[in-house]
Amino acid sequence: SPFFHYQNNTLHAEGVCLEILARELGTPLYVYSRAALKAAWQSYQNAIGSRNTLVCYGMKANSNLAVLNEFAKLGSGFDIVSGGELARVLKAGGQAAKVVFSGVGKQDWEIEAALEAGIKCFNVESVAELERISEVATRLGKTAPVSLRVNPDVDAKTHPYISTGMKENKFGIEIGAAPAAYQKANTLPGIKIVGVDSHIGSQITEVSPYLDALDKTLNLLDMLGLQGIQVEHLDIGGGLGIRYTDEIPLDPKELLEPVYEKLAQRGYDHLQLVLEPGRSLVGNAGVLLTRVQYLKHAEARNFAIIDAAMTDLMRPALYDAYHGLLAVRPRAQTPETYDIVGPVCESADWLAKQRSIALEQDDILALESAGAYGFVMSSQYNTRPRAAEVMVDGEHFHIIRQREKLEDLFEGEQLLP
Ligand code: LLP
Repeated sequence: SPFFHYQNNTLHAEGVCLEILARELGTPLYVYSRAALKAAWQSYQNAIGSRNTLVCYGMKANSNLAVLNEFAKLGSGFDIVSGGELARVLKAGGQAAKVVFSGVGKQDWEIEAALEAGIKCFNVESVAELERISEVATRLGKTAPVSLRVNPDVDAKTHPYISTGMKENKFGIEIGAAPAAYQKANTLPGIKIVGVDSHIGSQITEVSPYLDALDKTLNLLDMLGLQGIQVEHLDIGGGLGIRYTDEIPLDPKELLEPVYEKLAQRGYDHLQLVLEPGRSLVGNAGVLLTRVQYLKHAEARNFAIIDAAMTDLMRPALYDAYHGLLAVRPRAQTPETYDIVGPVCESADWLAKQRSIALEQDDILALESAGAYGFVMSSQYNTRPRAAEVMVDGEHFHIIRQREKLEDLFEGEQLLP
């Protein structure tokens, strides 16, 4: 990519040499490119043009305050799934009026905080939740703007763990049950219907599942219209995929053009369109740097044991996910085939398998496409401090999260009296 490229046989992020950065700041280290974030944002804006469309960054993908602040300054809204994420948005200078709140298990305190902050909309995922929001809003003397997240029962053709729009999934309200749920919302105190919402999955590389879902959602809007229920916005969720290996991702234009066309055909182009992209805004804007600790040439396999682990980048262990692997300073020797594994005591602790690469102990490696669902999914298992995060900007870099210290790991624990 233009943001991560080789210069003098050394991988750089923009104008910063990653060999030097890794040696200076230590590894494992997450490195993001500010220009890559902006370019991804711009690709959405190019597709949107002057249309009334709000991008609510699906911040679960990467919720570092510096990343959020960057998107807030670009005018982004946020799709949140917890009170914690709301606190981050507010801390990072995001506007509550551009926040949509998704998730199947919203707690009272989270609903209260969102009402106090004045968010744009609750994406409600069950009738029970609708009743809870009504109660909390009434108690606070507020009105809660809501959208019902409908489950359109389409196959997003992605990994089963990240597909959310089929009827077997826990997400949303079955589309068949949605008219009755909207009727109910219409009668409940403290509730104002403002939209309709669906999100069908993640790492989607085809337009058809989106259009199938949209057809079903628009049929629902037709039905609601007959019942006298109008909405102001239509949220089609996030889910656009990125390239990890040989996927051919959709440009936002390839999704949005047919979407706008369908909205116009069906007479819904007056509605505001809301999008919730996460991965496609940040995924390819980050790499995870790690150092080779040991090489181990066993009978069946060659292993490169690195200082990053499943605790730093969980996607391979959890989804069998593929992340590209680059030598920060490639060697000229004949490559060998390695499994790239971490130091954690689990067989699932691998980051890459069967990769052909020339390696020596102490080499720095980069795992690609680590900007989304990377650091945010990390843990402290095996009492491993979580990695530091750095934002590169041209020739400069900024530490946007300090490496955790050992003391941080047991702060809050107590010996028995
Ligand atoms: N909106 C909702 C309601 C979501 O549940 C999600 C992601 C998004 C938006 C953003 O989706 P995106 O544009 O990033 O695909 N940890 C998994 C991905 C989980 C996605 C969860 N929901 C992974 O590492 O692949």
